[in-house]
Amino acid sequence: MKFREIKNNVFYCGLNDRDRRIFDELIPLEHGTTYNSYLVKGSEKVAIIDTMYPPKTEKYLQNLEENGVDHVDYIIANHGEQDHSGSIPALLKKYPEAVVVTNAICKGNIMEMLLVPEEKIQVIKNNDELSLGDKTLRFMIAPGVHWPDTMFTYIVEDNIICTCDFLGAHYTFDDIFCPDSCEVEHSAKRYYAEIMMPFRNLCKKYTKQIRDLNPDMILPSHGPVYKNPDFILSLYEDWTADEGKNLVLMPYVSMYHSTEEMIDYVSEKLIEKGIRTQIFDIVTGDLGDLAMGLVDSTTIVIGSSMVLGGPHPMAVNAAYLANLLKPKAKAASFVGSYGWGGNLFGTLGEILSGLKVDVIEPVLIKGKLKKEDYEKLDILVDSIYNKHKSLNLV
Ligand code: FEO
Repeated sequence: MKFREIKNNVFYCGLNDRDRRIFDELIPLEHGTTYNSYLVKGSEKVAIIDTMYPPKTEKYLQNLEENGVDHVDYIIANHGEQDHSGSIPALLKKYPEAVVVTNAICKGNIMEMLLVPEEKIQVIKNNDELSLGDKTLRFMIAPGVHWPDTMFTYIVEDNIICTCDFLGAHYTFDDIFCPDSCEVEHSAKRYYAEIMMPFRNLCKKYTKQIRDLNPDMILPSHGPVYKNPDFILSLYEDWTADEGKNLVLMPYVSMYHSTEEMIDYVSEKLIEKGIRTQIFDIVTGDLGDLAMGLVDSTTIVIGSSMVLGGPHPMAVNAAYLANLLKPKAKAASFVGSYGWGGNLFGTLGEILSGLKVDVIEPVLIKGKLKKEDYEKLDILVDSIYNKHKSLNLV
């Protein structure tokens, strides 16, 4: 495969992984993913920015060879996770003259996780520069998006920035340049929800930093290259905003449909009051869609049947994921139904205790919905409405 030139002797040398169906053994991938690697040929030195996921190493090295890359001076490790740094040992074997350039935290990671020898690593600090002759690499340390070791590499003369995982998307492509399409937006949002949302405030900070830098292109380490940086920066500005949308996310699991009826009733009443809802069947749904729903929701209402005196394990799973992803939601509540008793909401409330949300009085019923249960649900709906009204959402 002939390397595509992105700009002025900066080439794409990454690979698609169309068949990959799950990442981190957690979230399904709708479009596979890519592992982006960039070859930068200066007038005096050659650098590779980020490398390859280990199972793809052989193909990656073969491509470098077929494209006549006979020496590499610097391997820039923007991040130590193996989908980007995993091929460093093989690259060092193929190009023994190369030096790995990275920050102090990433140095520790690649020594521990990839057994890269210390003497092969050159440590840089924030804003340090490395000359390739007619090109300069400037390093911007960006801890927290999404590991403490993350940094960006800015190619000064070309005004393009390699942002590692930040601003990426699990999305494969033939043309490396991003079409400003709904499909890419969907993949980028899903990716943000699953990987970046727990670090929302840092995402906001770095989005502004990159906006101020005003690069001509953004080169992430997953998904297509953004020739129009405003496309992805505007999306991040929206997703990382402190204010949620006028939206209630309603993940539920229901064994005999009573909980489902409660969710449907609450949803119907909220819609009548001008509030959008997103109902999510935890059992049959895709966790990536649940994560995406968390990006914009102001309120989360979890529905669960009682199982052996506690919440259904699938509801526990959804609550645990929501707590991990740290969405911007401002309120939460629960609804559920039981057969013979137990503590349905205690465990769920504890799991969500990491979120800064007002907990609205939950509604627990025995068996089927009765007149007094509808009245309790009406009170719940009113409370959600009042919360959204107080936030000027309705
Ligand atoms: Fe794509 Fe954090 O690795």
